Amino acid sequence: MGRVVDNIIVKFGGSVITDKKHPLSLNLDAINSLSRTLAMHSSKKIIVHGGGSFGHYYAKLAGLNTKCKHIYEVNKVVLTRKSMFELNSHVIDSLTSYGLNPYTITPFYWNKDFSELKSLILKLLSQNFSPVFFGDVVPCKGGFRILSGDDISYILCRMLKPSRMIFCIDVDGIFQSPRLEGSPIKELDPKMVKNIIVKEHIIDVTGGMLRKIKIAYKISKLGVDVFFVNGFKQDALLKALNGEYGVGTCMRGVH
Ligand SMILES: Nc1ncnc2c1ncn2[C@@H]1O[C@H](COP(=O)(O)OP(=O)(O)O)[C@@H](O)[C@H]1O
Ligand SMILES: [Mg+2]
Repeated sequence: MGRVVDNIIVKFGGSVITDKKHPLSLNLDAINSLSRTLAMHSSKKIIVHGGGSFGHYYAKLAGLNTKCKHIYEVNKVVLTRKSMFELNSHVIDSLTSYGLNPYTITPFYWNKDFSELKSLILKLLSQNFSPVFFGDVVPCKGGFRILSGDDISYILCRMLKPSRMIFCIDVDGIFQSPRLEGSPIKELDPKMVKNIIVKEHIIDVTGGMLRKIKIAYKISKLGVDVFFVNGFKQDALLKALNGEYGVGTCMRGVH
């Protein structure tokens, strides 16, 4: 029997690909480093990226967050989406320049039945494309809300049961406290989650680290290993792509 090629979902954190402290500022070096690292690995890759100082900036002005909102600034909703498409085009350019074949799918038209989406993703993967997703403004009953890159990652994990899920963030992993002192927690047991203290970026409209940890826990319950690695460190991402434990923080899949 031939070797089974891994399907891996990699989320590029907005804190890595942009500078969250300054509105609309890109970190092209970081995007290129991520692309280069992915191109070095033979697995089939699905990429999700966050909004960082692009999407979050306008979403905040628009009055949007992950809850369904009925009152919002229409023109800022437009700008939120525009900024995300802009950020996406930089990610696509970079992935392409390292030889990957990205294919962006926006979540805007998804309905409750994900079966069509699943067959599209499988078809793309079989033809050597890398499906790319990003957090976006989506319609909800009578209004709009943000579907975050982290939420999309969960939906994709549930649908595809990948070999692993890797969250690239701007620090070495998950720490006991937001002072980020010492070493990150190597293996995050769900029982430890309630003791972790987080501090969120002011700009964040999707719940930041706490929500990410909760989503990681849900993903681990699907039987999928979750890694949190420093997206600025090529070596850390490569090890996680190989499924090596001991880099960053790992939450093991529960079987
Ligand atoms: N206990 C903690 N351990 C690790 N990171 C933390 C913690 N508390 C807060 N953070 C912050 O979470 C941030 C990463 O989360 P977030 O900005 O939501 O990531 P993303 O780039 O994926 O959107 C880091 O910048 C870090 O400062
Ligand atoms: Mg976030």
